[in-house]
Amino acid sequence: MSKLALLGGKPVVGKDKKWASWPVSDKKDAKLIAEITLSNRWSYDGPYEWKFAEAFTKYQGAKYGMCCANGTVGIQLALEALGVGAYDEVIVPGLTWQATAAACVDVNAVPVLTDVEPGTWNLDLKAVEANITSRTKAVVVVHLYGSVTDIAGLVKLCKKHNLLLIEDCAHQHGTFWKGQGVGSFGDASSWSFQESKVLSSGEGGFNMCKTKDAFYKLYSLRNCGRYYEACPPVFGLKKPAGFETTLQSGNCRLTEFQAAILLGGLDRLDKQVKLRDANAIYLNQQLAEIPGVKPMHRRKEVTQQSYFNFAFSIDPKELKVDNRQFCAALNAELSRTDDFEPPYRPLNMCELYKPTTKTRHKLNAEYFKAINPKRFNLPVCEDAFKKSGLVVHHSMLMNAKKDMDIVAEAVRKVVSQIDEVRNVKVASAKGFKPLPA
Ligand SMILES: Cc1ncc(COP(=O)(O)O)c(C=O)c1O
Repeated sequence: MSKLALLGGKPVVGKDKKWASWPVSDKKDAKLIAEITLSNRWSYDGPYEWKFAEAFTKYQGAKYGMCCANGTVGIQLALEALGVGAYDEVIVPGLTWQATAAACVDVNAVPVLTDVEPGTWNLDLKAVEANITSRTKAVVVVHLYGSVTDIAGLVKLCKKHNLLLIEDCAHQHGTFWKGQGVGSFGDASSWSFQESKVLSSGEGGFNMCKTKDAFYKLYSLRNCGRYYEACPPVFGLKKPAGFETTLQSGNCRLTEFQAAILLGGLDRLDKQVKLRDANAIYLNQQLAEIPGVKPMHRRKEVTQQSYFNFAFSIDPKELKVDNRQFCAALNAELSRTDDFEPPYRPLNMCELYKPTTKTRHKLNAEYFKAINPKRFNLPVCEDAFKKSGLVVHHSMLMNAKKDMDIVAEAVRKVVSQIDEVRNVKVASAKGFKPLPA
């Protein structure tokens, strides 16, 4: 095999290789956007927004759903609609985008950062149970990257301890567990349509829920607290009795332009998810045969897996390199613009999760101490981030099957010359900030 590209050798594939890019759209989307532009209906409970809401909710197999401003707001609205608030403890995974925990502090709850399983980087149910106290009110579960949490086990655990369950499905549009869509298992779920996501409108979000009560509350909360009567007739719902009051809230709606893009994206979604899933299965089969490389665990109940990012682990003890060194060598072989990188920074060391910097969180000394991320111990999250985890954007899985062979070949080449990789210093390589002390 040729010398590593990182050391000046010929890469497995050069810069002239065309990789699939993201996001994608088509002429139908552009036509609909033009029609909306020329109409006098740009936002606020518009027909396209609700057409999309009913279709996406049905696709995931949930009961009720509606659009909101983004995935961060979606988690906050779900917590508020279910009655989670001041001083309630909410169990969240330590390895996730900061929004999962930030939304909890923004409703004055205490995010209890909880460790994850090594094989999926999703909530470890034993760690969840160990963190339950008399103050625990809810769990916000994240199905991370391309893996699903043991959702059946978690639903059972939440029932046993009388806890609310919110699914943060920002990474999982189009994932099914025994044929049932994720996002329909919890009391509520939240979704993100930010540009990088597999269903996207640039920015945007969504909530699904199980009960009419939660739906009416979500509607009010995303709409400046207005009484549900303002909502057009959707999901076969009529004017509700006993829900005539307004609530304190703000504007968390999205526009008809975003809904138009989402309708086009939803038409394409299932086919795209199937393509990524087939490519991921094929690539994982090859990765499983490379010494020191471990594909993520796929639970047997998962009948269709969506991928926000594709992830795998290396065994840093066996290969005697860390994930940063491995990423640098692999990226040099692949010449892609969307590079492999370590997974999220665990929330106990995340520079964008700093709840104690907000004066509005100074409720009292005990609360301030409770929300301090530094008090949590997250060894599996830290191992994934500092040593073993690699992730790449889902657009990599939108290429041809033969392109997965290129990725596997690049991984094989890096492993075959791992002694060379060991000597490489990558602390300042592109995108790799120095590790926190
Ligand atoms: C797991 C997770 N939850 C929530 C969010 C927040 O979504 P948004 O960016 O739409 O606010 C994200 C966004 O990246 C995410 O990855």
